[in-house]
Order: sequence, then structure tokens, then C-alpha cells
Amino acid sequence: MCCECLDPGCGGGRDDGLAPSIWDSAVYSTSAFSRLEKLGIRHPKPSPFVGNLMFFRQGFWESQLELRERYGRLCGYYLGRRMYVVISEPDMIKQVLVENFSNFSNRMASGLEPKMVADSLNEMTPLISQACEVLVAHLKRYAASRDAFDIQRCYCCYTTDVVASVAFGTQVDSRNAPEDPFVQHCQRAFAFCFPRPLLALILSFPSIMVPLARILPNKKRDELNGFFNTLIRNAIALRDQQAAEERRRDFLQMVLDAQHSMSSVGVEGFDMVTEALSSSGCTEDPPQRCRPMSTSKPLTVDEIVGQAFLFLVAGHEIITNTLSFITYLLAIHPDCQERLLKEVDLFMEKHPAPEYCNLQESLPYLDMVIAETLRMYPPAFRFTREAAQDCEVLGQRIPAGTVLEIAVGALHHDPEHWPNPETFDPERFTAEARRQQRPFTYLPFGAGPRSCLGVRLGLLVVKLTLLQVLHKFHFEASPETQVPLQLESKSALGPQNGVYIKIVSR
Ligand code: HEM
Repeated sequence: MCCECLDPGCGGGRDDGLAPSIWDSAVYSTSAFSRLEKLGIRHPKPSPFVGNLMFFRQGFWESQLELRERYGRLCGYYLGRRMYVVISEPDMIKQVLVENFSNFSNRMASGLEPKMVADSLNEMTPLISQACEVLVAHLKRYAASRDAFDIQRCYCCYTTDVVASVAFGTQVDSRNAPEDPFVQHCQRAFAFCFPRPLLALILSFPSIMVPLARILPNKKRDELNGFFNTLIRNAIALRDQQAAEERRRDFLQMVLDAQHSMSSVGVEGFDMVTEALSSSGCTEDPPQRCRPMSTSKPLTVDEIVGQAFLFLVAGHEIITNTLSFITYLLAIHPDCQERLLKEVDLFMEKHPAPEYCNLQESLPYLDMVIAETLRMYPPAFRFTREAAQDCEVLGQRIPAGTVLEIAVGALHHDPEHWPNPETFDPERFTAEARRQQRPFTYLPFGAGPRSCLGVRLGLLVVKLTLLQVLHKFHFEASPETQVPLQLESKSALGPQNGVYIKIVSR
């Protein structure tokens, strides 16, 4: 055999008299499958054409854990002919996400400015609280009925309201007014994002945060784009007529202000995650970790629409699922919930109208509960980097073009870093325990210059929501509560059948 060419059109080296087309397809169906072995990387045995597709039939979450158990912390698989190298080894992850970032920097362009996100969060707090009041009103009805219900559906509507308000500058009540054009278009956008398993597999795999534009069919995409574009253009026109103090202080306004700002700092200028998770209090001006990047160009209206879209897609599902997971875990761990309720009550006594700064400082147990939930159930449980050039990472050869998958689920459930990984234990995240943690064993928001841009906003929404909900109610498990929770992992990790619980007024 002389030919290792991956080009399906190349039939070089055949000498057994097989008809060219049969030979070609035989070569094509398996020719790509020697690459992992050549790199010395263990992997499940691939099948012709589909590679290891069948390995993932139980869901990407379960398969990721199984991959680590069976093939180790550096392993691989093929989807179709495409090769993936999966890493859940902390030092190697650090090399890829931080130390060798320049070789693994493939990122979608983003005009989001972290500094401005941070500066504007305080102003967004009342908008989120406003949407939360609507959620609390809906929950009151369920409390009165005493019936079990799917709280994930409530969170889903609520998160749509938050996105509408914060990103698109428009107020909706998705639960009561599902016929609202914004709600309808959002639902269609989400349905398009993750439609049928196979499509989701082919189109959205491996990146969870795939830009909407790439995954929608053209006609529908244009229609959706048209709707959101008009919405934003109208909002911009309205704001142009308003005096500065009349304008809503939301994400849209922040991006519009950025258009006029002369000195913005590039995304790479901050280590958002370390900073956001350090609970270091409210910083007027977050510390810069690296040198400031060149001044950004003002955004066009299309780019602003793109930013709002990104927000919609990136934030909506993940926040809904995070809130659902926390609620489930609190309902089945009443002791933890009891302790949290005390903290919430004390806090609300001191700060009846919570502000961003207060939230950073005085809710240590809530922080622990959120952190442990994101360890057990990290919604973005896998993300990828692509090698721009051939390189070596801690002795492992990585050819240019290789897709590296960071296996956050496997990392967070590795008993070497997290003893009894299936046990919910917020004590893993006391300030002291955090100091002891081995670096790069906990990555719910990714790490390095390409990490989550919405980490602060995401945590703000989650905290503010739980504060306001737990101030009024507590969660109770009921016979309808599925324990253990069945998970779905086609795109983000989420509950498969919703989260059925009871809610009790306090
Ligand atoms: C609890 C909530 C959230 C979690 C757990 C989360 C998690 C993540 C993770 C793991 C990544 C991949 C990071 C990496 O590749 O290193 C990511 C990327 C991203 N997230 Fe989030 N996210 C959350 C909320 C949000 C929100 C609310 C927004 C919108 C403002 C957002 C915007 C983004 C964007 C734009 C990226 C892509 C960054 C890039 O490719 O450069 N996220 N997120």
C-alpha cells in the first residue's frame, strides 16, 4: 500500500483488481482512521464512513465520561472522517488555553467589550429584577396550586424576557403573551439552533457557541435576521430621538455607546473568568491582565444585531439550564437549601433592592452552591480549539488543523480532582478549598483569552434570580421529581425532561 492520500478522488496504489469505485469508497470510508493511532492517541474503534458516531448515541455527556474512563485523559475519536483529540488533563488544558494560546486562538470575531460589560452591569440589574418580578408572579400561582410543575419552562420564558430586555431593548412577558412577535421569533431561532439530533450533531458540533448565522437555513435565517434587524434599527432610531438620561441602560445602549467611544480595550485585554470568579468585589475598572489591544472600530448596525443575536444564543439556553440544575439540587438537598435561605434572608434585609456591587460581596454560600452546580452539571461541557500550526503540547505531537476538545464534563467528574464526584457538596468551594484547588480542574466558563464573554452577566442573572425567588419561596422535591435527573447533551447540557418540583411560599 503506497497511498495514504485522503483525497477520495485518488485511487493510487491499488493492485488487487477491484473496480475503481468500490476501491475508492473502501479507501475513502476508512483512510482517515489511522491518524489518531499514528499520534499514539487511544480511541474507540471507528466504523467505515461514520467513524465513532455510534459511540455517541447515548449522548455526548455520558460518552465524554466513558471516553476518559476507557481511554484516558488524552484520547480521541472520529466523527465522520474528522478527527477530534479530547483532553481532560489539567496541565495540558492549560497549555492549550493559555500558554500556547497563539496557536489555538481560533475565535469568532466579537466586538463585545469586557470593560464596558463590567461597567454596565450595575445599570442592567434593575432590568433583570423587573423581568424577575414577572417570574415571581407566575411562580406564585404554582405555589397556590401546590401541584408539581416543570420549573424549567418558567425559567425558559423568563430568560427570554431577560434577553429581550437587556439585549434587544424591548419588554415582553413570554409566559403570558406567547403570541408576541419577539417571543415567536425567539422560539423559532432556538428551534432552528438545535432542531433534530442529527442536524444538531452535524451543524452545531463541536462548538456549543456556534454563531447563529452559520447554522440556519438561508431563507429562514434571512427572515429572522430581517425581524431582529428591524427591531434593533427601530430601537436605535428611538434612542437617537431620546435625551441621554431617558435611554434605557441596557446591553444595546452599551454597544451603541461603544460606537462613540474612542478608547476601547480589546477582548484579549482581560482574563474575564479568573476575575469574575474571584469575587473580589465591585471594580470600577477591572484590572488588565495583558497589554491593551488596539482601538476597536465602531460597530455597524449589522454587527450590533450580531452581538444581540450572540447574546440570545449563547446566554439563553445556558442560563435556563443553570437555574434549572440549581433548583433541582436545592430541592433534593433541603439542608443546603435551608442554609441558603438564611443567607438570602439576611442579605435581603440589608439590601432590599440588590445592586451589582452588593451581589459580589455578601453571598458566599450562594456562590458555593452555584459553583458546585456548575461543577456537577456544566452546561457548556465541551468546547474546542483548533491548532493553527503543527506543535507539541507536553510531548504530544499535534498536527496543524487538529480540533482539540476540552472535556469539561470528564474533568469535573474526575475522582482524582473531585473525590466522590457524583455527590453535591458546596463545601468544595469554600474560599479555603478554592485556594487548594489544582489549577485548570474547574472550567465552567472556559479559560484564557477566549473564555466566556458573558461570565459576569451570566452569574449576575443567576444570582439575582435565585435571590428574588428564594426570598419568596422554597423548592420541594415531589414524587414527580426525577432523581437522578436524566440529562440531555445534544448541544448544551440540560435536563432531558424538565425539572418537576413543588414550590412553597415563605
Ligand atoms: C452560566 C452562564 C454561562 C456559562 C456557564 C457559559 C459558559 C461558556 C463556555 C464554557 C464558553 C467556552 C469558553 C472557551 O472556549 O474557553 C463560553 C463562550 C462564550 N460565552 Fe458563555 N456562558 C454563560 C453565559 C453567557 C452569556 C450570558 C453570554 C452572553 C452575554 C455568553 C457569551 C459567550 C460568548 C460570546 C462566548 C464565545 C467566546 C469566544 O468564542 O471567544 N455566555 N461560555
